[in-house]
Parts: sequence; structure tokens; C-alpha cells
Amino acid sequence: MNIEVHIDWQQRTILAGRLYPADQSAAVTFEYDREWLARPGAFAIDPIALPLRAGQYHAPALFGAMQDCGPDRWGRVLIERAVRKRVLEAKPYRDLDYVLALEDFSRIGALRFRRVGGGNFLAEGDGRLPPVLRLGALVAAADAIHHETETAQDLRFLLGVGSPLGGARPKSAIVLPDLTLAIAKFPKPDDTRDIVGGEILALTLARAAGITTAGHQLVKAADRHVAVITRFDRAGAERVPFVSASTLLSLAPGVAGSYIQLADGIRQHGHDVSGDLRELWRRMVFSLLVSNHDDHMRNHGFLLRAPGKWALSPAYDLNPVPAIDRVTLAQTAIENSGAAPSIEGALAAAPHFDLERKAAKAILREVIQAISGWRKAGERLRLGRGTLAAYATAFDHPLMAEAQAVGAHKIAAQASLKATDVARKQPGLLAVARAPTRTVSRPRRGISP
Ligand SMILES: Nc1ncnc2c1ncn2[C@@H]1O[C@H](COP(=O)(O)OP(=O)(O)OP(=O)(O)O)[C@@H](O)[C@H]1O
Ligand SMILES: [Mg+2]
Repeated sequence: MNIEVHIDWQQRTILAGRLYPADQSAAVTFEYDREWLARPGAFAIDPIALPLRAGQYHAPALFGAMQDCGPDRWGRVLIERAVRKRVLEAKPYRDLDYVLALEDFSRIGALRFRRVGGGNFLAEGDGRLPPVLRLGALVAAADAIHHETETAQDLRFLLGVGSPLGGARPKSAIVLPDLTLAIAKFPKPDDTRDIVGGEILALTLARAAGITTAGHQLVKAADRHVAVITRFDRAGAERVPFVSASTLLSLAPGVAGSYIQLADGIRQHGHDVSGDLRELWRRMVFSLLVSNHDDHMRNHGFLLRAPGKWALSPAYDLNPVPAIDRVTLAQTAIENSGAAPSIEGALAAAPHFDLERKAAKAILREVIQAISGWRKAGERLRLGRGTLAAYATAFDHPLMAEAQAVGAHKIAAQASLKATDVARKQPGLLAVARAPTRTVSRPRRGISP
């Protein structure tokens, strides 16, 4: 089945090209549509793999920009279970089949797919996403997947209206009361700590540290924590083109990449190049200092802001990892030199991010200042004492000691900086800090689905 690839741009859905998948392998061929090529303001939908030129592009596997809007581990588990339970008719076997199994309405980014010649965009759905009130039921369905006790109804719920989106952890697309789209990220029954609470804590600290973050709230549903993350790839009804950093750099599967490489990608394809380079350096030291070892290249993303100009998306999927778990996860390197990440290494790399050492140190101090309030921020989020204890080694570790030594003299002078001062600079913070954890006790009957 050959596929038309459309893109939503400036409130219109436009045919960008056609995709020709091989029958018996993962190989694909893509060709831009002639009208798209001739269109003023046209852009490459995949900046390196598919430059905006006539002719056919061949690849052994699906192009990164198309993978980015398909399912990852969580979605694939759902799809495979759904095939087993005959909720889905055909077993997908190529990456493209998995991409097409996801609902069009809630698909990440602005790409849309349909059969060559017409028909509805795939996968068809009624576009009715579960509201926040259904979180309890969604958590219960995700738990059932974990325990392998799910029913066909659970699968329809999570796979249909709840469209699984990317990533490995259980999640669902949902709609907020003001009709904005969001991602609900659920706890897993075998989590050894409050992972969801830790993610919201990290996002809260990141915002306090001056990092642009996705909107976030910690919500209680069926007595469990759920992270509700506002979608940044929608602006009202408009879809915003999205690619992962992995796609922007055209990294082969399994290639880790580095922050320096990402900085080069921003230089080549960036929108506000200097601003994003500085923002990236801030995110890099933040990740080092909150032990965010989950900063792989699909956890950095870019949004198209002007034709061919990709801007860093708000930060998402930030996860503090306590010392006990750090061995299993490799953090993205500052550069591919094999050197262990260090604050001195980050400072030495600063010129690559358009930062002089003095300016970099000033950013470092702001980041340390914000993270040093982690316990208070956790208490404001009402994380349990056990949870805070579990995360202590994510915030208190040798790299933090090194950072404090580097910026020590100024930190003392800033010690009187109150949370409200930081919040004044970051208007969302106080609201998040003050907002009590919302409680969604029981799913109500009679609401979709
Ligand atoms: N706020 C958001 N708006 C739009 N897209 C998002 C947002 N947050 C995440 N995404 C997209 O959804 C994907 C999955 O989300 P996320 O990374 O939070 O899930 P995860 O399961 O924790 O991932 P991982 O496999 O890295 O642990 C991301 O890779 C990104 O493409
Ligand atoms: Mg992720």
C-alpha cells in the first residue's frame, strides 16, 4: 500500500510527497510532490534524510521524521496485544504499519498519512480523547496491560481514543478541560519509586532554573500519581511539525550522539541559533546536576518555527535517577571523547554553545540555585517522605559538589534569593508550586469512550 504523506502547516493540510514501502522488507522510498517542491515556503519534512529536492530517496528503514510520530515500546506492546486479541485485524510487521496503526487525531507533530488516491487520514478515529476524569480508568487499563490481564475493551480504550504516542512508559493522549491536548504518563506497578512524581519534580526545578518546559501537573487518579504534560506540538487546532534530535542529526539506530553534536545541529537548522545554543547548555548542566540519565536523543525535540528552521521544543521527559539506578542508564555525553561528564568539561565546552566562561558560570549558578530547592519543591508537590528520600542521591552527588565548588562564591551571595524572586522571572512557577495536587478519584460513567 503506497502512502501519501501530508503535513499541516499554517492551518492547511498539504500533500508533501509519497511513500513507497517495500512489500517484504522495512525498506522505503520517498518522493516529494512536485507542487510541494514548487510551493513558496516549502520545507524538508526531515532536514537531513530528505532534503527538499526532486527525485526518489531510498532508505533501508522508515525515515526518522516518520518514526518520530509512531509508537515506541509502549505503543508496540499495545498493538501486538491488540492483534493477539483480534482488536486489530492485521499484524503490523514494518515500522510503517506501526505508525499507521496510531490515531491521526492525536498523532505527534504535523505529519498525516493516507492511502495514495484518497480516503481518510490513518488511523481513522472519532477524535474523542479521554478527558482528565477518565484518568483512573486509563491507569487501571495500563495496569492490566502490565499484568497481562487486559481485556479487548482495555486495548480499544488505550489504543483507540487513548492513542499510545511514543516512548517506553505507559501513557495516553488526553484532552484537558480547556480542550488542549495533553499526555498522561502513568505509574507502572513495578516502579521501585514514584517515577511520575520524580518527573514532575524535575520539570518544576527545570522551570525554576530558567529552562523552557512543557506545561506539567501532578494529578492523583485512583490514588496514584499521574503526570499530565501539555502537548507542545499543538497551537489551538494547529499541528506544529516536530522531529526528535535523533532525526535532526540523522543518527543511525543505536548511535547515542552528544550535546556538542546537537549544538552543531542547531547551528545548521536552528531558528534562534544563539538562544537555543545557550538554552541547550543550560539543559545539559541541569541534566548533569539532577542526574537525568534519560536524556537520549529522542528526549530532545525540535518544532518547526519557520520554513526549514527548527527550534528546540520545550524540555520534556526529565527524570532524576538515584545513584542505585544510575549504572544501568548511560547519560548523553557532552562530546564523544569518552571522558566522564564533569562540570569542568561543560564549562570547557561552553564556547561551542556561544557562551563565554563567565556567562556559562552565571547560568550554572542559576541552575544550582534552583536545584538546591529540590526538597522544598518536592514537599510543595506533596511527594511522600519516602519518595524524597529515594531521590536524595539524584540531587546530592559528586557532580553537584563540583558545581558548587566552581560557583560557590556567588551562590552564598544569592542565598537570599527567594522562591518568589525566581517565580517572578518564571510566571508559571508559582502557579505550579502553589497548585495543590489535583485529585481525580473515580472515573465517571457516561463520558467517552
Ligand atoms: N509535551 C509534549 N508534546 C508533544 N510531544 C511530546 C511531549 N512530550 C513528549 N512528547 C513526544 O512523545 C514521546 C514520548 O514521550 P516521553 O518521552 O515523555 O515518554 P517516555 O515513555 O517517558 O519515553 P522514554 O522511552 O524516553 O522513557 C517523546 O519522545 C516525544 O516525541
Ligand atoms: Mg522519552
